[in-house]
Amino acid sequence: MRTFIIRARKGTTRWELVRSQIGSREHFEVVTHSVINAFFFSNGFRDDVEVYIILDSSIDFPRTIKLSSSEGLSIGGFHEDAVLELVETALKNSMGLQKNETRMIAPGLHISGFGFEKLVGQLLITRPVYLLDRKGNDIRSAEIGSDPVFVLSDHLAMPKNSIKGLMRVGLKTISLGKKMLFASQCVVLLHYELDRLLA
Ligand SMILES: C[S@@+](CC[C@H](N)C(=O)[O-])C[C@H]1O[C@@H](n2cnc3c(N)ncnc32)[C@H](O)[C@@H]1O
Repeated sequence: MRTFIIRARKGTTRWELVRSQIGSREHFEVVTHSVINAFFFSNGFRDDVEVYIILDSSIDFPRTIKLSSSEGLSIGGFHEDAVLELVETALKNSMGLQKNETRMIAPGLHISGFGFEKLVGQLLITRPVYLLDRKGNDIRSAEIGSDPVFVLSDHLAMPKNSIKGLMRVGLKTISLGKKMLFASQCVVLLHYELDRLLA
């Protein structure tokens, strides 16, 4: 299993506003591009991938949408609109969601009433978790454990205070070089590096 966490710092939890965040200062296209690159390759769909989208912009608490190909996720195409539809569907069907509740929306599509620290803290209990960071350990010299989880931010920097505590409980950093890349480009390179290791 390969898991990607995309933290959308300005990602809205209001379904009717999601589309307006494409091509705007919220840059929700970072999320849609990352999702497409996480699951699709030419003529194929990876069946061992999970993507968590964390939507931080909320009046009450963040929402986390989980997309999981091994649980029967269906995406209507490898275009932006198909990903937007999934996000809108999850949000529309989560009216009344309580803090910390998780709701199944469709096969491979869940939404939860929690955010970054709780999700990463939970995953760290059982899985190796890596924060993508230009200043981290080079991916080719780092040892990547099995069923890795990779954590990325959108166009905004990951807040340092949310990382500090997680580093103490095992979060590691890895780098894909000195150039600042888009999150979606990191996803492609991570697949490339892991596919090479498995080849
Ligand atoms: C567009 S960057 C974020 C830019 C933001 N202004 C900042 O200063 O962090 C999106 C995310 O991709 C990851 N990333 C970008 N370039 C990377 C690199 N060379 N190595 C590892 N991760 C990288 C980081 O997780 C980063 O937070």
